[in-house]
Amino acid sequence: MQFQTFDTYEALSKAAAVAIAEEVRANPRAVLGLATGSTPLGLYRELIRLHREEGLSFAQVKTFNLDEYYGLAPDHSQSYHHFMWENLFSHIDISKENINIPSGTPDDVDAYCRAYDARINEVGGIDLQILGIGTNGHIGFNEPGEELTPRCHRVQLAEATIEANARFFDNAADVPRTAITMGMESILQAKKIMLLANGEAKAPVIGKLQTSGITTKIPATLLRLHRHVHVYVDAAAASQLAR
Ligand code: GLP
Repeated sequence: MQFQTFDTYEALSKAAAVAIAEEVRANPRAVLGLATGSTPLGLYRELIRLHREEGLSFAQVKTFNLDEYYGLAPDHSQSYHHFMWENLFSHIDISKENINIPSGTPDDVDAYCRAYDARINEVGGIDLQILGIGTNGHIGFNEPGEELTPRCHRVQLAEATIEANARFFDNAADVPRTAITMGMESILQAKKIMLLANGEAKAPVIGKLQTSGITTKIPATLLRLHRHVHVYVDAAAASQLAR
């Protein structure tokens, strides 16, 4: 795991966008794993700029999102479908049929999840997976626990996650209690992984990511099993990293 510290969130976002642009220019048919949350917003803004001003094309790129709130329809203002269209997809030349986001309203969760994992395999797996991190160390919505479920599944959200995400809803009671998430196995099968973290609130978990052993109690520590993980942090999130 390689840590890279940037002075500002803007610098971190630009560097992440440059790495993705390099991947897409080298392989226009790249498969990207995408994350939601506030962290990748700067990255998505910069990708939109690269598309508009520097001709970066996503016409053949395929994407797979990590997760979606269970029970939220795609047109719900807090659904991750809505988030992705609003903050990235509507502004670039990606084809609708190349976009994959877990459904929040599948009829049969198990069958749906098996099909989602199968689609990832059919396209040859994810080339570059972008991740944020929860303050409790969650990745996607793989929450800390005694055990983790390796593949796509419906998950009970942790109290810490519900609290952290309540800011996006009118009140905490409106935050869905469960979600559909890609599992850690699918994430670890990506060829390259880029984890982004900014702000003081992420400093403790980023510190632990550097020093802790591999534990399901901090799902992000499982990334230690992967050969190519680049962690991009701003100065605030890096404040508990050893030099
Ligand atoms: C959310 C998402 C994660 C994200 C994390 C951090 O709940 N499911 O994919 O990485 O929590 O969110 P933020 O970037 O807003 O801090």
